[in-house]
Amino acid sequence: MPVSTVRRRADYAQALLPPVYISPPVLPVPTVPAPLPVRPTPFLKWAGGKRRLLAEIFYRFPQEYGTYWEPFAGGGAVFFGLSPARAVVSDINAELIRAYTALRDNVHGVISCLRRHVPTEAHFYRVRSQQPHGLTDTEAAARMIYLNHTCFNGLYRVNRRGEFNVSFGRYTNPTICDLPNLLAVSQALRGVDLRLQCVFTIEDDVEPGDLVYFDPPYDPVSATASFVGYTRGGFGREEQVRLAEMFARLANRGVHVVLSNADTAFVRSLYGDFRIDTVAAHRAINSRPDRRGPVAEVIISAGGAS
Ligand SMILES: C[S@@+](CC[C@H](N)C(=O)[O-])C[C@H]1O[C@@H](n2cnc3c(N)ncnc32)[C@H](O)[C@@H]1O
Repeated sequence: MPVSTVRRRADYAQALLPPVYISPPVLPVPTVPAPLPVRPTPFLKWAGGKRRLLAEIFYRFPQEYGTYWEPFAGGGAVFFGLSPARAVVSDINAELIRAYTALRDNVHGVISCLRRHVPTEAHFYRVRSQQPHGLTDTEAAARMIYLNHTCFNGLYRVNRRGEFNVSFGRYTNPTICDLPNLLAVSQALRGVDLRLQCVFTIEDDVEPGDLVYFDPPYDPVSATASFVGYTRGGFGREEQVRLAEMFARLANRGVHVVLSNADTAFVRSLYGDFRIDTVAAHRAINSRPDRRGPVAEVIISAGGAS
């Protein structure tokens, strides 16, 4: 009998034996996440997105910290740019956090739903008229991504009833399903604690040595400049004062705190005890193109043991 036949029979016999389970070696839990094949970027365009200011923001982050907190997540530009090992990412927008969660837990489901969408006006308005609560998590995430990439100006805005109401955008060839980025986004979100939560409820859970990056809706530079389309609620001056008080309490407890806001006299008056740096940001979302140029913003930083 040729040797090869004997081997094949032996393999066959081996396959019939009951499997032997060898317990895997206990490996230490890695503190540094596995390198991502593609650097993740926000899967949504979001008003006030921080992609252009990442270097300025990271420059003010400490080298070492415990858990990274981002309680005004929006498009998550800072979180995705950092891709930290341990993070709590939250926002008050339920549809947004539902999309993050679907991408973390079932990215392939979201991708297959996205592949069913086409960039035509009729399809856009049909999808826009759907109620997200009648959809599965993956369908709702795909709907949000699709509408965001095909609507006018890539804006997220809801009416008083909480319904998305931006019109069709007429792009020549919009990217609806950015496969490599969605996979990278999902990997960056693995193990991340995602919470639907108001910023004012995180304080007790933050530990000394943690890092919190706050990117609230900005104090308006003029009476007409306010953009309040993220959710139905608003974030007015009363909330800005409460946030500044919380920022000071966290800094006093040894938490690293970094915050972005518009460069207004009011904001400066709230953070007078802390380091305030002015940076020039470029506003991409404004209904008037002539108002999309550079505007002054501040980055306020404090805290940590050093
Ligand atoms: C300026 S955007 C954040 C942009 C984000 N840094 C990015 O890069 O896309 C502000 C976010 O704060 C959220 N928000 C507004 N009020 C909030 C509150 N009370 N608690 C938590 N999040 C809130 C909005 O839903 C919005 O996503």
